[in-house]
Amino acid sequence: MNLTRREFLQFSLLLGFAIATKKGWANKLPTLAVERRDLFPQGVASGDPKFNSVILWTRRPPAKDSEAKKLIVEISTTPDFKKIVAGGTTQIGADSDWTCRFIATDLEPNHEYWYRFIDEHGFASRVGRSMTAPANDSDEPVRFTFVSCQCPNEGALNAYRRMIFDDEARSKDQRLNFVLHLGDFIYEVTWYAEDNPNGNRGRRIRDLYKFPNGRKVSNFHLPATLDDYRTLYRAYLEDPDLQDARARWPFVCIWDNHEFAWAGFQSQYVAGGGYNAPAQNQKVYANQAWWEFIPAMVQQPGNPTLEHFKAPEVVDIAMEEFNDDGLCEEPNNLKAINSLKIQRVLRWGKNVDLLLTDNWSFRSPDMSSDDFNVPEYPRVFAQVPFEIMNYGRHYNNDNPPDTIRFNGKDIPNPTKNVHAQTYLGSEQRRWFLEQLGASNARWKIWGHGFGTMELRSDYQNLPGELGSKWPKDVGYAVIDNRFLRDKDIIFDFIRDQKITGFCVVGGDRHAFHAGLVSKALPPKKYEPLGVEFITGSLTQQTLFEV
Ligand SMILES: [Fe+2]
Repeated sequence: MNLTRREFLQFSLLLGFAIATKKGWANKLPTLAVERRDLFPQGVASGDPKFNSVILWTRRPPAKDSEAKKLIVEISTTPDFKKIVAGGTTQIGADSDWTCRFIATDLEPNHEYWYRFIDEHGFASRVGRSMTAPANDSDEPVRFTFVSCQCPNEGALNAYRRMIFDDEARSKDQRLNFVLHLGDFIYEVTWYAEDNPNGNRGRRIRDLYKFPNGRKVSNFHLPATLDDYRTLYRAYLEDPDLQDARARWPFVCIWDNHEFAWAGFQSQYVAGGGYNAPAQNQKVYANQAWWEFIPAMVQQPGNPTLEHFKAPEVVDIAMEEFNDDGLCEEPNNLKAINSLKIQRVLRWGKNVDLLLTDNWSFRSPDMSSDDFNVPEYPRVFAQVPFEIMNYGRHYNNDNPPDTIRFNGKDIPNPTKNVHAQTYLGSEQRRWFLEQLGASNARWKIWGHGFGTMELRSDYQNLPGELGSKWPKDVGYAVIDNRFLRDKDIIFDFIRDQKITGFCVVGGDRHAFHAGLVSKALPPKKYEPLGVEFITGSLTQQTLFEV
């Protein structure tokens, strides 16, 4: 075998999993079983397909008179299980909330498979369908869809139903290979109907769950314990549209903010203006629940198996100091944010390398822009002060000004000696550049929570009174343009290394955007280096609705 170093590492990681396909399962007769969907209330799922493997998932909690400790997994090339090609057994238990992750190995590339789980009483899950990736040297086209921002409490997930309908109507060679979920798989911040009889911003609320513990803040509720986070996933996965979608396609998932916290950074929890607290324990709970319910080839550093999540012991402690890269090196923070690493690369033949990053666990604390707000223009920032503060001490080639001119006053620059804002952190940024530089796929697709495009408006040029109120000499109204130094480093690398086929796909913004990606927009040097597509939300209010 001729393996590259990366393939070798992935291969040896795979061997470390205790619950993988067992030799001798091929050509077995199907186990006699009765389908009991009620005993598998969250259905089945598959994730992170490779050319020869895919992770299979289910949850079989104890029912009134029936508890299972062991599941048989069957993988077949036909939906009736007459041609079983692989299988095995796996243990389940309360410590993983009765979920399981089984790696089906030794599969054929670019192949459709059906799978099911059977407990020791002969009760079977529904049948799931999955698909492996094309072989590494295959030129086979790849089709995928990408989604984000789903909350069945506030809107229906019928986009999945339509996706299934469309896919079934296509010829076999036109069907989707996988679904890329860019995060906000759950919304941890929850409005209960009882506190909000008029709904949330006009959306009727359906109470799909109550947190067993939780924390009430203002008119909403936040999770506080592991059981609270698990409650969210259990309830969401009972949604029939989401459940059917997970049973039809392999999902590839990264998290956005709401899998842990409405807002925040590293292991700090921030929710609106109402709650702001160190939350190292909660970050570990959020990571554990994600790991238990999202089948993904992700690693807990120091734990090569998929059997159990090892939760590090942490205490909730304030983060006070941040290093040159915006990282708080306080040991509890480091343990919490490193308890799960979801950044990874998946490959679909010669055509696609999918690079996935974690845009929240390593991000620097937000800067305060209070001194530079323009109250008449909500939800936008004045470009010049925004950029000066976003680059911190690195502004203007490490020559930040002492003061920032705003509304006729010179205000002391609050970020003169502060690290630049970052969302990747320096270690992950280095890793990302290495992966991007090493990729020889035609398309290098970056699965990115929120995308890189700058959104701005030229309020200074609005006619009449509207334009005259925008402060002089502060440039454009910036709606969204985050983390400029990360952007500079990445785009300079793409230009210098002459990387082609660069594409970003994102979610989070609750609106559709498409465009060319560039480090900056005119009148600065405009140098497009790739393409970007942002998908709208599955259920959540659009920017304009808000
Ligand atoms: Fe969202």
